[in-house]
Amino acid sequence: MEPNVLEIRNLKVSFFSDEGETRAVNDVCLSVPRGRIMALVGESGCGKSVTSYSILRLIQKPGRIVGGEILFHGRDGRSVDIAALTEKDQQLYDIRGDRIAMIFQEPMTALSPVHTIGNQLCEVLYLHRKLSRAEAEKQVIAMLGRVGIPAPERRFRQYPFELSGGMRQRVVIAMAMLSEPELLIADEPTTALDVTIQAQVLALMKELQHDAGNSVLLITHDLAVVAQTADLVAVMYLGRIVERGSVRQIVKNPLHPYTRGLFQSLPGMHPRSEKLPSIRGSVPSLLDIPAGCPFHPRCDFAQAGLCDCGAPPPETVLPDGRSCCCFRAAEMVARFGGQEEKK
Ligand SMILES: Nc1ncnc2c1ncn2[C@@H]1O[C@H](COP(=O)(O)OP(=O)(O)O)[C@@H](O)[C@H]1O
Ligand SMILES: [Mg+2]
Repeated sequence: MEPNVLEIRNLKVSFFSDEGETRAVNDVCLSVPRGRIMALVGESGCGKSVTSYSILRLIQKPGRIVGGEILFHGRDGRSVDIAALTEKDQQLYDIRGDRIAMIFQEPMTALSPVHTIGNQLCEVLYLHRKLSRAEAEKQVIAMLGRVGIPAPERRFRQYPFELSGGMRQRVVIAMAMLSEPELLIADEPTTALDVTIQAQVLALMKELQHDAGNSVLLITHDLAVVAQTADLVAVMYLGRIVERGSVRQIVKNPLHPYTRGLFQSLPGMHPRSEKLPSIRGSVPSLLDIPAGCPFHPRCDFAQAGLCDCGAPPPETVLPDGRSCCCFRAAEMVARFGGQEEKK
């Protein structure tokens, strides 16, 4: 069986307006291994949500996928290029919400205010599993219990407004897990929750994923969440992946100056009294992406004549498997790659 459940190849997604083409996702390659949690991180506006919406073909006009492949390698041994499907293809509906499920940032996006929790969750099973009412009810109540909702039989008959934010997000997770998706995409699933609930929800997602051996693509701008939850990390900037590796590699020895900037802003990594560092400058407009390395105007390591002209830097793959898109990758490895520890 394919080691990756998802393989995105050279994905390009743009939004078109009178001002021109906004390249929100620009030549992204990303593989999610089976049974692993892959985190996709980066500052707001860098293309994380657009990437994840593309996987379920939820990008709407004026946006569209303008190039690339989104290969889904199913457990049944079949592969399909989701990017090539149309709304008329039954395959899209077999995948969407069933084999690949998504948890959105705001639970109410996924829940209808006018139907009970139970009816909405049973619907998932009717739609994809063709179960009887009694069987569906039993499974739904069991899943509500598994996601840590007390008195699931009573919650089953309640409406979303009767639940707290944390409980609603658990319901959404239950909904996404009910179909036992091969890939779960969670787009900032805990941003709307307080810190304690956040930790519980993440632990729960990790446990459910681990039990079922399924994969998770976890999208977040919260690096503490990444360090706590993910196996692998991909870092995105201005529509591109700039660095990828194991969570240990990326958290311990980030190489790309952008990743280094991001992780330096992680609380816990600095004494309380110290002011948090942040990456200087701001994210440029996607309508006006800098030449050369898109990060060069904000980079402390940028070298005139090397980093500020021509095409973006190619991906440098290191012997330990991680990769970095930086013109000065070799120097970054020598400086920050953690090689001295091995001597
Ligand atoms: N509906 C839309 N219309 C026009 N542009 C959009 C739309 N959605 C996203 N974009 C563009 O795509 C970029 C990436 O957005 P997004 O993927 O939502 O970022 P994030 O990394 O914060 O999830 C935005 O900065 C914006 O320029
Ligand atoms: Mg987003």
